[in-house]
Amino acid sequence: MEYVIEMNGIRKEFPGIVANDNITLQVKQGEIHALLGENGAGKSTLMNVLFGLYQPEKGEIKVKGQPVNITDPNVANRLGIGMVHQHFMLVHNFTVTENIILGSEPTKAGKINIKDAAKKVEELSKRYGLAVDPYAKIEDISVGMQQRVEILKTLYRGAEILIFDEPTAVLTPQEIKELIQIMDKLVAEGKSIILITHKLKEIMEVCDRCTVIRKGKGIGTVNVSETNPDELAALMVGREVHFKVDKELAQPKDVVLEIKDLVVTDARNIASVNGLDLEVKAGEILGIAGVDGNGQSELIEGITGLRKIKSGAIKINGKETTHLSTRKITETGIGHIPEDRHKHGLVLDYSVGENIVLQTYYQKPYSNSGILNYSKIYEKAKALIAEYDVRTPSEYTPARALSGGNQQKAIIAREVDRSPSLLIAAQPTRGLDVGAIEFIHSKLIEERDKGRAVLLISFELDEIMNLSDRIAVIYEGKIVDVVDPKDTTEQELGLLMAGGKREREGVS
Ligand SMILES: Nc1ncnc2c1ncn2[C@@H]1O[C@H](COP(=O)(O)OP(=O)(O)OP(=O)(O)O)[C@@H](O)[C@H]1O
Ligand SMILES: [Mg+2]
Repeated sequence: MEYVIEMNGIRKEFPGIVANDNITLQVKQGEIHALLGENGAGKSTLMNVLFGLYQPEKGEIKVKGQPVNITDPNVANRLGIGMVHQHFMLVHNFTVTENIILGSEPTKAGKINIKDAAKKVEELSKRYGLAVDPYAKIEDISVGMQQRVEILKTLYRGAEILIFDEPTAVLTPQEIKELIQIMDKLVAEGKSIILITHKLKEIMEVCDRCTVIRKGKGIGTVNVSETNPDELAALMVGREVHFKVDKELAQPKDVVLEIKDLVVTDARNIASVNGLDLEVKAGEILGIAGVDGNGQSELIEGITGLRKIKSGAIKINGKETTHLSTRKITETGIGHIPEDRHKHGLVLDYSVGENIVLQTYYQKPYSNSGILNYSKIYEKAKALIAEYDVRTPSEYTPARALSGGNQQKAIIAREVDRSPSLLIAAQPTRGLDVGAIEFIHSKLIEERDKGRAVLLISFELDEIMNLSDRIAVIYEGKIVDVVDPKDTTEQELGLLMAGGKREREGVS
């Protein structure tokens, strides 16, 4: 049998770590092939090797049976290999079309012809159901849209083999459905897809085969029809994983976060949060369930001071914080795991250690009369790296060199460790492997049991249902209902999120 892609015995090292150690991956034509492994296992690295971004120290790559030397992404493109990266690589003040043709501009007598390119983009987007406006600017479109642009970019270059690095981590459930349809169309045309995802359900649903890697080493390849999520989890982590969270009944105490009649406007001055009331008590996890775009992001930005409040009031521990600066609000006792870890979470060029004291570096013991005490900073970092299993060669490594999931773990470690009285966790397990999710979930419950108020925002209904003590449904900028997860089904919750009303007993 001839494979479209064969990677044999690939080895790739980074300072202090062997990211890929003798890995083999064989992809058949027309299949969706999953690449599964823990955070830091070496998946993105392996795909960056295939895409020509990294040169392996050892190993051989064959495309359609021919040995090739993929020295850079242009070579990969010529061989029909395209990649949609874990963190997008788009130019934000360029339009969709400009981004797509960047590096491969069509020329008419040496001039760039945007119109022709836009037409081709439109054709491609119709053919594969990738709806985008070719003239929209990247900064004005949603993350889901941006991803479509990345996909179009690979198709525009004639990709036959598409690498998707965790495409669904940043998508809403509806967008995931659409992406799956798009992938089905692509393979129906004979294209082949390598899909990285931590969501075992997705692998079961859409993939034909799955290659598992663990700590840089290949574990094997299985037929998806002959396996199940438990076995996949065990293969990747090397132990059994519990998907259900164990927790006691909550013992809620005083109100920590109190929001009254809050109005927050978005970039276009539209009230995204529109008269919202909410209370979160010490010792409870309050989950916010809602379809993306109903004011969740603006609500978090409003509470944390990242966005100005139009009207209404926010109190934390009885103290009004409505118009305080982000730092002042942080100091009143807020921890924030942000949904966009690159924008608000990390300074990528700083070391892991420096990132871990990002909120506290100016305080004792990390700073004394304005002088940073690096030995204290790195001592703290070292302890947190161990506790949260952040996989990094050392605390001095720049955050940029960490795998996506390990960057997320570093942020969580920093925010939880400060023991804030209010912990805001926005999509906290986005991009984490099943083992890490298990750990973070138990950590959030531990914080709750220590008497913290936890505000959880997540698109994963499973996560909301499993973790929350109460669920507040957000719709068009308001909390429309607060339900008890114990007597609510996912269907009922879905209905409420779509703006439906709950049928109450005894009400006709
Ligand atoms: N540019 C780099 N410089 C140094 N180390 C790196 C670099 N890129 C990756 N690494 C290291 O190589 C290892 C594998 O990282 P990789 O990004 O491939 O993991 P991954 O399997 O994609 O994980 P995740 O699921 O978290 O995205 C990690 O230990 C990471 O810190
Ligand atoms: Mg990765």
